[in-house]
Amino acid sequence: MTKLTGSALEHHLDSLLGVPAFAPPTAFSENAIWNDPSIYAEAESDPEGWWDHHARALDWQTPWHTVLDWSNKPFAKWFVGGRLNASYNCIDRHVLAGNGERVAFYWRGEEGEERALTYNWLHEQVQRAANALTDLGVMPGDVVGIFLPMIPEVIVAMLACTRIGAPHNVVFGGFSVESVRERMAESRAKVLITADGARRRGMVASVKSEVDTILERLPDLAHIVVVDRTEIAHPMTPGRDVDWDSALDAANPICDAQPFDAEHPLFILYTSGSTAKPKGILHTTGGYLVGAAYTTKHVFDFRPDRDVFWCSADVGWITGHSYIIYGPLMNGVTSVMYEGAPDYPHRAIWWETIERYKVSVFYTAPTAIRACMSWGAEEPNKHDLSSLRLLGSVGEPINPKAWLWYREVIGGGTTPIVDTWWQTETGQIMITPVPGITHTKPGCAMRPLPGIVAEVVDNDGNAMSEGQGILVLRRPWPGMLRTLYHEPDRFVETYWSRFGSDTYLVGDAARIDADGDIWILGRIDDAINVSGHLLSTAEVESAIVGHPKVAEAAVVGQADEITGQSIVAFVTPIEGTDTNTLNEEVRQHVAVQIGKIARPKRIIWTYDLPKTRSGKIMRRLLRDIAEGRALGDVTTLRDPSVMETLRELISEHADSED
Ligand code: WT7
Repeated sequence: MTKLTGSALEHHLDSLLGVPAFAPPTAFSENAIWNDPSIYAEAESDPEGWWDHHARALDWQTPWHTVLDWSNKPFAKWFVGGRLNASYNCIDRHVLAGNGERVAFYWRGEEGEERALTYNWLHEQVQRAANALTDLGVMPGDVVGIFLPMIPEVIVAMLACTRIGAPHNVVFGGFSVESVRERMAESRAKVLITADGARRRGMVASVKSEVDTILERLPDLAHIVVVDRTEIAHPMTPGRDVDWDSALDAANPICDAQPFDAEHPLFILYTSGSTAKPKGILHTTGGYLVGAAYTTKHVFDFRPDRDVFWCSADVGWITGHSYIIYGPLMNGVTSVMYEGAPDYPHRAIWWETIERYKVSVFYTAPTAIRACMSWGAEEPNKHDLSSLRLLGSVGEPINPKAWLWYREVIGGGTTPIVDTWWQTETGQIMITPVPGITHTKPGCAMRPLPGIVAEVVDNDGNAMSEGQGILVLRRPWPGMLRTLYHEPDRFVETYWSRFGSDTYLVGDAARIDADGDIWILGRIDDAINVSGHLLSTAEVESAIVGHPKVAEAAVVGQADEITGQSIVAFVTPIEGTDTNTLNEEVRQHVAVQIGKIARPKRIIWTYDLPKTRSGKIMRRLLRDIAEGRALGDVTTLRDPSVMETLRELISEHADSED
């Protein structure tokens, strides 16, 4: 078969835009773990029985006596009375079953280094690392921060924490140390595991010496464990700082996995909310693990004897937690982990990697697919991608064109795509096609998984059978967040108050079509989704106004071809400031406060912002301006003429950008 490129491909994709739905290929369904649609009804007839059954896929030291305790809603308890260990379920049981020599990860470094990390290797390393943490005084319940690049040690570090019941708090390696400081302070972390430096596109960035600048303000943080990834010079403070390799060498090699209560905290992961302060999403052991294991097996149709999995996310996001670490390892999967960017050292690195390790299930984000699309089909076409039998998408709505490109160019025109909708809060995939059963529609997340109840409701909370509304989840699920760390009131307020304590408010708008399939439309709050990563307007605004020359700022999301949304900031400088050089300064300031991902793509300097009479900035109008739409209602503005000025400013800005 000749592979299409350029305008021939364009035409082909355009013709496919008319196809309303794709059926699962017969050969796929025949060999799929799930291919009988009756599973939906089975789960509905007895939801707790359903989860009881799927929880048995894990090894429990003590079985539960009650599947779900929802008496103190919205604070759920799952698998009450049960005890288990996460690292045991991820590693030991495969080793005990005689599969210790199976590769858990094919790891590939930015410089082309390759390592095959077996389950035996993980078993040995995790025990030593767990004992090393205990040697540093870490006790069950103590929070351990992790700020590492995509290297084997990050896997070991996370699992070592779970072995001794210390919840980990992983911070995405692309965030700034100021973000690390905030997350460590909020979670009162005792130990932070980090690296001397990180490799980024052939360069080496120092990490440890950066981390040192925040330590004075972190009194609870007793120790820093430093992994050597680069040769970069870094200071070590005796007594406080510990070298990873030496600590593991010195540690007792045996650390039996202790069982913990099903509701013992497994990890905290911070995510953006509607205020400047990130939310500490708390996941606990039993339910989260059941949710991650269940979805990995059934959504990715994964069988260890058949498949090689690659989730291209960073471990610092929930996708990495659930579908690089916990879900795949519990299922005894062989995965690929790549340290670098999709275009480093070159734009074919992903396709080369898929060919090399015969990846059969590939899971990535729409923003990455759109970037690959813009680079053209030539590179993927040069590689043998025939090992792929299933593709996944996550993080933001995927536009039909990108979906079709993914299926045609990467999936050879036949591979099913699972567009998986979920959140940091849900812990597990919630709405998705089941690849051996469900039809797929380009751009549609389709249906809630068996056991999950999702609905599109109107403003009063009534379920709609067709149309556009607000997405809610009606029933607890095992992987659900249990609370916001140290902020239970905010937990209730954010998720469980709008429609009562039985209904989880997702924060997304959605459309349900005539077939009952769900299309996710995007956020209803002020969150901006850049490349699948949520940022709150308040968080970015607070970083911008932190700059000494800035008086006020309002931030909105604007549609962006590659990243889904990009950040536009309307900023008022302190009077008399020359704004000529301020653009880069402010962007740099945001990079330091939050991370590069939060830098505004455009800054519009203005002495006025659209405000209501009570002084509230109307972001809705700024969004209209940024996206070049007709303005909505301006009558509530204190000074409607502001909008004309802004419109002129933004068109000038567009001109100057060319
Ligand atoms: C928000 C959650 C789940 C891991 C990555 C993001 C958006 C996520 C999809 C999808 C449309 C999606 C939603 C959601 N989102 N997946 N398949 N289709 N939108 O985790 O940072 O917690 O963000 O991402 O808006 O609420 P997160």
